Amino acid sequence: MSEHVRFELEAGVGLVTLDRPEALNALNDGILAGLEEAFLALGREPSVRAVILTGAGKAFVAGADIKAMAGLSPLEARAFAQRGQRIFNLIEDHPHPVIAAVNGFALGGGLELAMACDIRIASEAAKAGQPEVNLGVIPGFGGTQRLARIVGRSRAKYLLFTGEVISAQRGLELGIFNEVTAPDLLLPRCRELAALIARKAPLAVSHCKHAVNEGTDLPLGDGLSIEAELFAQTFATADQKEGMQAFIEKRPAQFIGR
Ligand code: CAA
Repeated sequence: MSEHVRFELEAGVGLVTLDRPEALNALNDGILAGLEEAFLALGREPSVRAVILTGAGKAFVAGADIKAMAGLSPLEARAFAQRGQRIFNLIEDHPHPVIAAVNGFALGGGLELAMACDIRIASEAAKAGQPEVNLGVIPGFGGTQRLARIVGRSRAKYLLFTGEVISAQRGLELGIFNEVTAPDLLLPRCRELAALIARKAPLAVSHCKHAVNEGTDLPLGDGLSIEAELFAQTFATADQKEGMQAFIEKRPAQFIGR
């Protein structure tokens, strides 16, 4: 595990903390490797139900490491972008919900990382943006694609062309953030949300994520086919029997994840 990425697992909830505060958690080789390792490990762990991703110090992530990128050739830059994209896809495709606890700056690769997560909760102290045009480059870790899918093409272009850094409140209005909390309530709120999700039928939650991720970029009919298939698969689970029986018996369901 990278010295700059910590992870813990408690009561089915993984907490991944990027811990390079002296560089505002800028994404260098070590952090990217640690991030990949943490999510691969959490993906293999059967007790995981949700994951929270956050940053230590005053930043979530202030972007890809500019000092490490400055001397890259075009060939190396392409490989760097592809590596970051592969790791962020791993997070997006993680079988369980991933909640970004955006504690501070989420700029460039930092906002791109948050956007690869399923749900984004921001502290009032958070600031977000894609400031790459100030550096003579464009986002390389998915920003042009995920931002446009989240806020729409025109609002995404506005943010990409201007490099504007927006407040947490503005991010909430644009739909980048699901909620904004006081700074000291950020992690408690994310833990509460993760615990709420962890009490639901795990396979059903996982299939919801899969259906949205896979289906919404396809024509509606293809997305609906994916939904019908995953809906059918839930009827082969013990949790479907338990969930419906518990409703009929007017008692809380006890899900086992099968
Ligand atoms: N890369 C490398 N180092 C970074 C960094 C980054 N993205 N962001 C901050 N740091 C470093 C600073 O260089 C500084 O280190 P030193 O003390 O050694 O000089 C340290 O972190 C603290 O930063 P500041 O002194 O700048 O802190 P501040 O509070 O005055 O400013 C900030 C904070 C506004 C976030 C400012 O640091 C900043 O503008 N950072 C760069 C943001 C940015 O442009 N991100 C996009 C990167 S490109 C990208 O991400 C491309 C992609 O899509 C793959």
